Amino acid sequence: MFRLGFLLAITSLNVWHCWTQTVTVSSSASHAIPSTLWGLMFEDISSGDGGLYGELLQNRAFQQVVPGTPDALNSWSSINGGAISVVSDNVPVSSALPNSLRFNVPNGLSGPVGFANSGFFGIKVDSSWTYKASFHFRFPTRSSFRGNLVLGLRSSSGETLASATVPISASSTSWRQVNVSLRPSSSASSLSNQFFVTVDGNSARGQTINFAMFSLFPPTFKNRPNGMRIDIATALAGMKPGVFRFPGGNNLEGQTPASRWQWNATLGSLLDRPGRIGDWSYINTDGLGLLEFLTFCEDTGMEPIMAVWSGFALGGTSIAQDQLQPFIQQAIDQIDFVIGDPRTNAAAARRAALGHPSPFKLNFVEIGNEDFFAADTYTHRWTTFVDALQSTFPHLKFIATSNINDPILTPKPQVYDHHVYQTPTFFAQNSFFYDDMARDGTLYFEGEYAAISTNPNDIFGTPADGRLPFPTMQGSAGEAAYMIGMERNSDIVFAAAYAPLLGHVSNSQWTPNLVGFDSGQVFKSTSYYVQQLFSLNKGTEYLPSTLPPRNGTVFWGVTRDRTNLIIKISNTGSSSATLNFVLPFNVASTGIAHLLTGEATTSNTPTSPKAIQPSSHFIRTGRRFSYAAPAVSVTVITIVREPE
Ligand SMILES: *[C@@H]1O[C@H](CO)[C@@H](O)[C@H](O)[C@H]1NC(C)=O
Ligand SMILES: *[C@@H]1O[C@H](CO)[C@@H](O)[C@H](O)[C@H]1NC(C)=O
Ligand SMILES: *[C@@H]1O[C@H](CO)[C@@H](O)[C@H](O)[C@H]1NC(C)=O
Repeated sequence: MFRLGFLLAITSLNVWHCWTQTVTVSSSASHAIPSTLWGLMFEDISSGDGGLYGELLQNRAFQQVVPGTPDALNSWSSINGGAISVVSDNVPVSSALPNSLRFNVPNGLSGPVGFANSGFFGIKVDSSWTYKASFHFRFPTRSSFRGNLVLGLRSSSGETLASATVPISASSTSWRQVNVSLRPSSSASSLSNQFFVTVDGNSARGQTINFAMFSLFPPTFKNRPNGMRIDIATALAGMKPGVFRFPGGNNLEGQTPASRWQWNATLGSLLDRPGRIGDWSYINTDGLGLLEFLTFCEDTGMEPIMAVWSGFALGGTSIAQDQLQPFIQQAIDQIDFVIGDPRTNAAAARRAALGHPSPFKLNFVEIGNEDFFAADTYTHRWTTFVDALQSTFPHLKFIATSNINDPILTPKPQVYDHHVYQTPTFFAQNSFFYDDMARDGTLYFEGEYAAISTNPNDIFGTPADGRLPFPTMQGSAGEAAYMIGMERNSDIVFAAAYAPLLGHVSNSQWTPNLVGFDSGQVFKSTSYYVQQLFSLNKGTEYLPSTLPPRNGTVFWGVTRDRTNLIIKISNTGSSSATLNFVLPFNVASTGIAHLLTGEATTSNTPTSPKAIQPSSHFIRTGRRFSYAAPAVSVTVITIVREPE
């Protein structure tokens, strides 16, 4: 008796600290889980160029720079006195690329003289990789000069890590292309390496050579030419995302209508891509263009959610209703490029000519981005765009980007894109956001969401005044609570994407990012692991269960697929919580709990990249079982179902 009493005392002590709830699971599903549910939001915010896009050289083609200015030489430097400047070439390499790098060898120099590019804050040199280097050059003046160009990779201290020699002559003034493979003799431990081009200073003295359209590629994801950086693409594919929202974000819009993203400026030879000043004041090469986005979707099994420009530029210009027609036609052409019939449509024929005759998958097209910034003009822009697009593409669904039902749009949107950047607490408190939405046929895409600060007054501040530099465990648990709500409401929420997705740790536009990276490594955040756990364990059907309290700190949801019962739990509170599950059918006596937990304010950072990672444990299961969710944790339990 004494012993038992003692045990009971211990147990009740635990119960005192530990919130307990019985969760009864229904045997019949309420709705199917959409295969698109957990996806990605991509826009170039210093995360395409120098990030997902595999190109290693920054400012490779002097796109959109002002010749003669120091900024035009961004990322380029001289070696041993080589004189370099960016000029507007009177014989440009292409009409899209008017600028060249003019290289002159001053008299009186000896040894290798040239120039270097330092990449996007470094270049990873890996001896197991073969790099493809290329550029165009011409001699502005014909002469009898003959010599050699040496190009390759070197360390910041000048040690050559890979090189190739190319004979050149000034016998003609026309452009020629050099393509070489570079195989480093050893890997560099540091990332502060450079791509270089040199000539012999003595024999080439006085010579001037113009260079254009440089490129340096490591091996790419799935070996695609002009493809994606392997480690970043692999990290994204590792979430098995269902959708890919592109090409933005505000970056779609341009600060002016003229600088908007235009699909047809992002296709074909890199020589034909002018690039553009992105919305965040730096230059987009558009090397990562429409076809590269679509190919990446196919390579990773994602369905595109593609945006078209909707007649509003972020600088504040809205196009009048009677002036929209050319922009609507450009949107129709963009969609036809993706899904049109090459036999009857010129844009689709362009796709076929670029090697993809069959249409890409496309069901959803977004009309603009965050048009709550220009809601007064969105009413006419929405109507005019959707009337034209819906009659041209009756089977597509068009997504509105203003606030939900504010203003009232005509025709009534079939789909809304909803964004929320908030505190961890807000996400937990709004886990029931979609439960109260009318079931009137409207679908929802949570196109951007993240816990970005713990201070509600600082939500739109810069990192210095409150934005988190990296996702924290409490932010990720808050997001998981909100995601549990979206999963429960996935009869109307068909997709959701954390944003921002990718951030260079020393050059990012926004924080916190789902995946951080530098030029050599990838850092997966706690929120990345939440996305991955949810996506890899999505289930195919939702099973209703006892609802969590709306005002509580512990949230759960149950799904199943052919083999497993899947339970997701987010405990956003500061103490452990026990859930007693009562299942409607037999399951295996052992399940697996995939658990992500840690100190509330801990992040995975470049100096501590693996501070918090998921771990998997066997747990006792059965028709009735209990699970204690640790404080500040996200758990996904999978249990093999027994035949019914
Ligand atoms: C260099 O490579 C590109 C891309 O593969 C190719 O189009 C071009 O013809 C090559 N040029 C030379 C001179 O080999
Ligand atoms: C793209 O198409 C638009 C017309 O829709 C045209 O004005 C523009 O010049 C084109 N851009 C390129 C780079 O082809
Ligand atoms: C949560 O809501 C329930 C039902 O409205 C109420 O009884 C309970 O006191 C609330 N709890 C807290 C912590 O606010």
